[in-house]
Amino acid sequence: MEKRNIIIDCDPGIDDVVALCFAAAHLDKFNILGITTVAGNQSIEKVTENALGLMSFLNSDIKVARGAKGPLIREKRPAAHVHGENGVGDYQFPHTKTLYSNNAITFMRDAIMECDGKVTLVPVGPLTNIALLIKTFPEVIEKIDLLSIMGGATFGGNITATAEFNVWADPEAARIVFDSKLPIVMSGLDVTHSCGFFRDDVNNMLKSEGKISRMCGEILNYYFKGDHVNNGTFTPVHDASAIMYLIHPELYAFRHMPVTVDCSEELGRGNTIADVREWFEYDKTYPKVLTGVDLEKFRELLLEGIYGLDEKVR
Ligand code: BDR
Ligand code: CA
Repeated sequence: MEKRNIIIDCDPGIDDVVALCFAAAHLDKFNILGITTVAGNQSIEKVTENALGLMSFLNSDIKVARGAKGPLIREKRPAAHVHGENGVGDYQFPHTKTLYSNNAITFMRDAIMECDGKVTLVPVGPLTNIALLIKTFPEVIEKIDLLSIMGGATFGGNITATAEFNVWADPEAARIVFDSKLPIVMSGLDVTHSCGFFRDDVNNMLKSEGKISRMCGEILNYYFKGDHVNNGTFTPVHDASAIMYLIHPELYAFRHMPVTVDCSEELGRGNTIADVREWFEYDKTYPKVLTGVDLEKFRELLLEGIYGLDEKVR
């Protein structure tokens, strides 16, 4: 199978780290052109340090480029209550790797335009960089085959009653991206609240001898304090869904529907308004909204990827 060219745009972030490990575990499937960072869960300095630290930890030569310092218009509001002061639950990564570029937007433009084939973007943070990319360099649009996004929800939110964090953090950027007509797969809360781990999965990782699985256990143990569902028995690993979909789309139920973003103030801010009316049939040109997942298989495959990476990285 031909490898998919991807760029992961992220704000690590505990679940971002797990998603990056999962992608790194599948270099047979992905040609990772780079990792770009965006302010979200923590400041751009901290999330970039975390991306670089993780790549050092994985002995990886994947390029890291630093992106936007904050949302297009709004004030930035880091999610320290979920991801901790350093953004990765106080975990200390080694720091030997240096930044490839301090401009994620031109980095993405160059990587996309120089790539032989099409490129898939995997945004798992606020959509600031992606909005800037498509507005500043529209020539990339033809070369992007898909955006596999973690963000939004058709019903309810996590940061507010109506909004999911990534979209709420920069609603104007999200509006630009959802209105762009680019092919989008949306891993929103509808599905990511069932994409994750049980308490025992994390306890087992904590006991692991492998350095990557143990690190994931430590940061997810922290995550359990701030992001959990089902009376604290289950923690979503939201961002991993955007990667999982690319490898195992068959795990998911979905519907195509129009999605736009509420850019108002107060309660409506960042709400992804999706037309869920069942009597309307929308074709494939509309975003593919993931509505369900095979949780058992998702867990199994994510665990397999993480433990498998222990064997690959020494
Ligand atoms: C999203 O918000 C962030 O805190 C997580 O990293 C994830 O991307 C979940 O709403
Ligand atoms: Ca994230």
